[in-house]
Amino acid sequence: MNDTNVKKKIVVAIDGPAASGKSTTARLVAKKLGYLYIDSGAMYRAVTLLALRKNIPTTDFDKVAQLAESAVIQFKMEGGELRTFLNGEDVSQEIRSPEVTKEISPVAANPRVREILVAKQREMGKEGGIVMDGRDITTVVFPDAELKIFMKASAEERARRRVKELAERGIQADFDQVLKEIIRRDEADSTRAHGPLTQAPDAVVIDTTNLSIEEQVERIYKLALEKVQDC
Ligand code: DC
Repeated sequence: MNDTNVKKKIVVAIDGPAASGKSTTARLVAKKLGYLYIDSGAMYRAVTLLALRKNIPTTDFDKVAQLAESAVIQFKMEGGELRTFLNGEDVSQEIRSPEVTKEISPVAANPRVREILVAKQREMGKEGGIVMDGRDITTVVFPDAELKIFMKASAEERARRRVKELAERGIQADFDQVLKEIIRRDEADSTRAHGPLTQAPDAVVIDTTNLSIEEQVERIYKLALEKVQDC
């Protein structure tokens, strides 16, 4: 029997820097495997949005941690897209706003927020059959995941992709500005004390600079099938 549905359902953990193509790739890999897809970055974004709405400074660690504790964050697939719900409200669009992106770093650096969100993420993946992407999924959330992937691409290529993606949504963005923001977030993500972006020693590294989304998906899907066969 080689049907993945009757085999053990594994955890596929994917990390990488901002705009490395993780989310699209992870979502498509999950679809092919018949697994659940969880975008862990959307959870940090949802907490940031909640703080902005309540006028709580994102640097107020205690108050933001309380928000993270009380927030109900859920995901649903609708028409092939992952929708993020915050306390029952669909916030999928709003969490991608430049205001949220600008304010997210102190929230992601908040150790209590990380503890709370990591616990929620582990709960979501405890039965396996999940693809989760983020910054600390291979190192902190699921260090024992059957398949760990680290996706990377040059900052310039990531900025190009982000500008294109924004243009497709009708937003005109300046390449230099986007590149600067990506480099700033790389720095913040890799240097924070808790859950920094690091490459797990046993992660498979995929440089996507010259790969299409289809090629990335195919590579990870094949690796996942091999792991499923091994289980
Ligand atoms: O993947 P993204 O750009 O939507 O993530 C937004 C921010 O959330 C990112 O700058 C760092 C943070 N993040 C994190 O700290 N840990 C994760 N597992 C996922 C995202």
